[in-house]
Amino acid sequence: MHNKSLVSISDLSKIEILEILDAAEDFERNPNRKTFDGKVVATLFFEPSTRTRLSFETAVIRLGGSVIGFSDAATSSSSKGETLHDTIRMISCYADAIVMRHYIEGAARAAAEISPVPIVNAGDGANQHPSQTLLDLYSIRKTQQRLENLNICMVGDLKYGRTVHSLIMAMAHFNPTFKFIAPKELQLPEKYKDFCRQNNIKFTETEVFTDNFNDADILYMTRVQRERFVNLDEYEQVKDVYILNNQMLMNSKPNLKILHPLPRINEILPEVDSSEKAYYFQQAQNGLYVRQAILTKVLS
Ligand code: CP
Repeated sequence: MHNKSLVSISDLSKIEILEILDAAEDFERNPNRKTFDGKVVATLFFEPSTRTRLSFETAVIRLGGSVIGFSDAATSSSSKGETLHDTIRMISCYADAIVMRHYIEGAARAAAEISPVPIVNAGDGANQHPSQTLLDLYSIRKTQQRLENLNICMVGDLKYGRTVHSLIMAMAHFNPTFKFIAPKELQLPEKYKDFCRQNNIKFTETEVFTDNFNDADILYMTRVQRERFVNLDEYEQVKDVYILNNQMLMNSKPNLKILHPLPRINEILPEVDSSEKAYYFQQAQNGLYVRQAILTKVLS
């Protein structure tokens, strides 16, 4: 981790990732502690969020610390034209760590380079979402009892989905086999396929969803990211391309778990929620424990 900040999942070694997952297990057993007494964490959300912001804030509160910040940049002085540089310089006068989501790729890295306090990237454009990746890893390990040698099928918006990009990079430590299912407009960017090739990660690509994940241990569904489209007509053409229903799970492996970073729109029908293979709400709950572990590490 550079300067105690967590900007990209590649800032963490395999050992550091496993240490965070182990610490998160401890927090799951006992989430209420007072180790952050007197600490202040700022949450700066320049893009909307439900889970990430509220689970980070709950993590701080359950550890006895305090939270400042904003959930809508329109209420901050960035709406008057204050630069990100000046915003970070100011907030670092008040807080011991800053959790930031920003619509510009690379904004978290730029903030970490000038911030005297740790920055935790809560998502920067279509680039990275490392705390989501750590909770995804936690959820995979918890449900499969291992991280190594798993078949992972990623479905939907693989072009703009930052959680997909971060998770591919993290899984490089654990010899996965990926199947990437996306319409041609939303296929995984070439740089992530190059990353897989350079790291000897096996992968296949297809546009066909139905009956194409029967060998998967993890089915990682994603939302089509409307906010990243310049032309909304293009969004309309692909938004409903894949919709998971219970019938499609009939021939899936008994150990299959369905993950989704959420929010979902309609890519998973509500009938799937009651399937024992659905794990996305527990996955979001795991985010609390993982974010307690992340904040404890950056503030240690
Ligand atoms: N998974 C995720 O980042 O959700 P939010 O946008 O609600 O934070």
